[in-house]
Amino acid sequence: MSFVEEKIVSEQLGICAKIKTILEDRYGDEKPGYYIQTLGCQQNEADSERMAGLATLMGYRAVADPEDARLIFVNTCAIREHAEKRALSFIGEYKHIKDKHPDTIICVGGCMVTQGHRADRIKHSYPYVSFTFDTGAIHLVPGLVLSALRGEKRKFIISDKYEIAENIPTARSNNYMGWLSIMYGCNNFCSYCIVPYVRGRERSRRPEDIIKEAKEMIASGIKDITLLGQNVNSYGKDIEGITFAKLLKMICDLEGDFRVRFMTSHPKDASDELIEVMASESKVVPHFHLPVQSGSNAMLQAMNRKYTREKYLDTVRKLKAAVPHVSITSDIIVGFPGETEEDFEDTLSLMSEVRYDMVFSFIYSPREGTPAAKMDGQIPHNVSTERMSRLLKLQDEICLERNSRFVGETISVLCEGVSKNDPEMMTGRADVPRPVHFKGDPSMEGKILKVKITWADKYSLRGELV
Ligand code: 5AD
Ligand code: SF4
Repeated sequence: MSFVEEKIVSEQLGICAKIKTILEDRYGDEKPGYYIQTLGCQQNEADSERMAGLATLMGYRAVADPEDARLIFVNTCAIREHAEKRALSFIGEYKHIKDKHPDTIICVGGCMVTQGHRADRIKHSYPYVSFTFDTGAIHLVPGLVLSALRGEKRKFIISDKYEIAENIPTARSNNYMGWLSIMYGCNNFCSYCIVPYVRGRERSRRPEDIIKEAKEMIASGIKDITLLGQNVNSYGKDIEGITFAKLLKMICDLEGDFRVRFMTSHPKDASDELIEVMASESKVVPHFHLPVQSGSNAMLQAMNRKYTREKYLDTVRKLKAAVPHVSITSDIIVGFPGETEEDFEDTLSLMSEVRYDMVFSFIYSPREGTPAAKMDGQIPHNVSTERMSRLLKLQDEICLERNSRFVGETISVLCEGVSKNDPEMMTGRADVPRPVHFKGDPSMEGKILKVKITWADKYSLRGELV
């Protein structure tokens, strides 16, 4: 396990103070704005909150419109082609801001530019981008901004050095729900996935650093903590004497009115010890995101998932037996190379058996540099889309059935604020990843309340305060 030296982090934080002085000279009392466009997963959202923390320390202020920003970050995702296209389209869109305000710094971070060929494309086709930085280089952002402010040569950082940088400030985007990254990277090399190439090998933060951050989050009023990692339940494999289950228990033992979730888990690491902690700790939300990817053993093997359909179903059975009200959700890939109609039907039958509360389904997207991109039997797009629509239809039916089980029940809901569609209604977040709407007033924001559910459809729940 390796950490960025403290000296390097404090040097970078020192640069923030330098930048602040430059900005005051340049812009006077009116702080210039910063804007972050985040694409992709929760890990990217957590990374963006670090970028926001650094930008704030440099003396920028958050703005809601990129037009008003003099520092724009695009935090990119590389998981599927669609995400990369969206990132390039945002970067393209921001050109006119640079044209109008040449003092704007546009920079690109995240998984897309951690790939050499993508960083090269930005370098050559987007000359107005000041710098790019890989996912292991967020702590170097202050130095990069300083050099851009001074008009120095453009920089394209691919450090390939994936270390843990502690003590980077965080500007959280939500007052009540917060991300807490506990580990980074992935060792699994699923054959379709770009993540291990762009986020490096698994590395766990020290338990004491995590507990310190959790305490700060609870003290600041955060009521819903999500422990994050690409492969969160393999936390601690690189540290003597700790497992993910033990860490989860340590967090539950902290004082305060909060609850805790975690994602994303790999089924092969869903241990009995973890299921026991979920069953016994009331602070752990009974929700398990357990991506299966496919219900066919042939596909699971080709995907290098390291479990079988039977083993997965066995874990699900154990989980349901130990945590009776558990919500299980999943990711599924449709149209993986070589997927036959029978393989796909195995996925549908697995979904029918598990009865997921929610499924995030994706059409397979070849990623340059991954083994699956070179496999025979790439599936035509029309076949994948037809399979996808059958999958969605089945999941819609299951979602409605799963949501309906709450009607008549009283559940805990964290109130997020006034509903966007109806000023008399409040919206909240329950154990299930579904919005809950109920009559209330803004004073309830940030509180965990009891709501009796009176109505459900496949997307949401409605109820009354108890
Ligand atoms: N194509 C389609 N979906 C993918 N995922 C990861 N890589 C790919 C790919 N190349 C999906 C998986 C993963 C989720 C985050 O994204 O289902 O669990
Ligand atoms: Fe990608 Fe597999 Fe790692 Fe998840 S476990 S990030 S799908 S390689």
